[in-house]
Amino acid sequence: MAHPNQVISTPTTDTPFLQIRRIVKKFDDVFAVDEVSLDVRQGEIFALLGSSGCGKSTLLRMLAGFEVPTSGQILLAGQDIVGLAPYERPINMMFQSYALFPHLTVWDNIAFGLRRDHMPKAEMQERVAQMLDLVQLKPYAKRKPHQLSGGQQQRVALARSLAKRPKLLLLDEPLGALDAKLRQQTQLELVRIIEQVGVTCVMVTHDQEEAMTMATRIGVMSEGKILQIGQPADIYETPNCRFVADFIGSVNLFKGHVEVDEPDHVVIATAECKHYVSHGITGTAGMDVHVAVRPEKMSIQTTPVLDSERESLAEVGYNMAQGVIEDLAYLGSLTTYHVKLDGGTVVKVTHTNAARHSAAQLTWGDRVTVWWCGSDVVVLTR
Ligand SMILES: Nc1ncnc2c1ncn2[C@@H]1O[C@H](COP(=O)(O)OP(=O)(O)O)[C@@H](O)[C@H]1O
Ligand SMILES: [Mg+2]
Repeated sequence: MAHPNQVISTPTTDTPFLQIRRIVKKFDDVFAVDEVSLDVRQGEIFALLGSSGCGKSTLLRMLAGFEVPTSGQILLAGQDIVGLAPYERPINMMFQSYALFPHLTVWDNIAFGLRRDHMPKAEMQERVAQMLDLVQLKPYAKRKPHQLSGGQQQRVALARSLAKRPKLLLLDEPLGALDAKLRQQTQLELVRIIEQVGVTCVMVTHDQEEAMTMATRIGVMSEGKILQIGQPADIYETPNCRFVADFIGSVNLFKGHVEVDEPDHVVIATAECKHYVSHGITGTAGMDVHVAVRPEKMSIQTTPVLDSERESLAEVGYNMAQGVIEDLAYLGSLTTYHVKLDGGTVVKVTHTNAARHSAAQLTWGDRVTVWWCGSDVVVLTR
């Protein structure tokens, strides 16, 4: 058998490094993964994001070779790898529970796979030293896992995963075992290491902040399907459906229909107000749609909105509604207001507390105007 690193030829730059083609995994009558297709470029950190049970791990396990697809293709550098056993693939997977060997030192944990491959001793020593350097754990080489912090253990696991120089690194909820503060630090640390090594990476997470922080692109999954693929900002600013809009961050959704459909603008009528949208949409007059506006894109004030404050005069009378502050949450850096609009809908408005007393004058029971810009409205047709 060829050495794993020789199985795969060097990819050309224009073909995606990893190509997943209509991959399906069925358990009994459940489609855990349902016709997923996606491309990952060399050097990318691609995040599969979705809630528990949506099929993320199953997809990752098929890439690793621990699960056989029901149908579909997985091409790595142009070669179909579906028929290859896990150890024949130039791929390494790091699990949520790092599964470090408790009785082995950090050094031996990192060297484990190299030893199993009978790597010559001198080469192995050099490789482990490189890995210790990479994850900045040189002084800890002789320690056992239980003598390390959670973040350090996580870095040992990463070093072990990278020691054999895989071409594709798979991370399943890599920071799941760490507490919130440490997670944030470690996210950036992980990105630094992955980029330094230049390894292509597919990671799985249910944490949208983690995906946004770490990934070059994100695939949002639900019920075995990928709903949208894009850079973090694309997915946040222009979600393609209600599920994605709601799953990533917080959003206000208004149900309505298209009243005016022009190439450069549309008007959507909803129970709360008329929305002027300063771009065309793929839709037709009369069509049922949802309007999505992010809480931080909304302004809130007790005084009327001046025409001169609007993005354009075309928006005067649109994109605004009156209501009463029903609840507010002061979070230090920002305040979230829950405003019950006169039509009955409750919207969330966040206000950044850039100046210390900027929002101090607003409180419970205040009657306010909430308004937003036509360029910040996203129209969702599904
Ligand atoms: N070995 C298995 N046998 C049967 N059903 C499975 C198996 N593995 C996963 N599933 C099911 O497939 C679906 C997706 O699971 P999984 O990929 O683990 O989701 P996620 O990682 O997104 O939480 C779930 O409904 C799960 O119960
Ligand atoms: Mg999982």
